[in-house]
Amino acid sequence: MNRTPIPVIHDCDPGHDDAMALLLSQAAPEIEIRAITTCCGNQTIEKTTYNTRRICTLLGIDAPIGMGRPGPMLQDPITAANIHGQSGLDGPKLPEPAVPLSTLSAVELMAKTLEESDEPVTIISTGPMTNTGCLLLAHPELKPKIKRISMMGGGIKHGNWSPAAEFNILVDPEAADIVFRSGVPITMAGLDVTLKALILEADIARIRAIGTRISQVVADWLDFFYEFHRKIGYRGAPLHDPCAVAALLRPELFDMQDYFVQIETQGEFCRGATVGAQPGKTDQAVVPNATCLMDVDRQGFVDLIVEAVESYEN
Ligand code: BDR
Ligand code: CA
Repeated sequence: MNRTPIPVIHDCDPGHDDAMALLLSQAAPEIEIRAITTCCGNQTIEKTTYNTRRICTLLGIDAPIGMGRPGPMLQDPITAANIHGQSGLDGPKLPEPAVPLSTLSAVELMAKTLEESDEPVTIISTGPMTNTGCLLLAHPELKPKIKRISMMGGGIKHGNWSPAAEFNILVDPEAADIVFRSGVPITMAGLDVTLKALILEADIARIRAIGTRISQVVADWLDFFYEFHRKIGYRGAPLHDPCAVAALLRPELFDMQDYFVQIETQGEFCRGATVGAQPGKTDQAVVPNATCLMDVDRQGFVDLIVEAVESYEN
């Protein structure tokens, strides 16, 4: 059994479910977080970066943190205060940041991390793909140093921010387009799976009952995140972003299917859509560029999350 941890760069816009993705990675002995980069998405770049530093302080993550640009590649930012609150991470009180911000930008930090690594590094992307898109444009020579991009975004069957488009892709479709055309192996945790990765009220109670400081913060995060989704008819909180981590840790929990995914960058109604084709199911020859998660063993996924929370001592 290979016990060498998977080196990763987390690119994120915390965000309650981004925070849970970081928690899952930090708890996993199979993963080594080499760097964290921030993007604007759920909130402004200042707020997502501040939240990242607060999360790292809470969880004891000491990886360097690089701040991304204030907006997507071409369009103005779109934020999601309706889901994550004005701070981008409303709910429980968090410690003030005790970890520094790198003097390197997000893209510079990504490039340095890849250059310095002896082995290819996996990028876990849980926000708009602005940083990864810029990295691929600025440093095409580093492509072989990216082992895989495990990303949350898109949806083969439908969107959430619009009927056709999921939030992370809609915020920066041009960046996503660069990523999906890059030839780097992609694992896509889209809405097809993440809307099935639900944390139910009983699961939140199970986490709260662990009784540690971190379990209380996590339960409060999940209560806050569930509240928005409950009001629009969900029976639980969809843990979108942790799916991109769980796919690396426990691939057997997921049904995965290969697709050729193209990003709609035009279109009046469909900008930001992830248009997927499967070999043998269209009249054209299709070469897949992404492995898409389509279903999950929900109980196994929840157990993984609970075990991760249990692994924190206080
Ligand atoms: C995605 O959008 C954000 O609100 C979440 O953090 C997640 O990355 C879900 O559409
Ligand atoms: Ca996110």
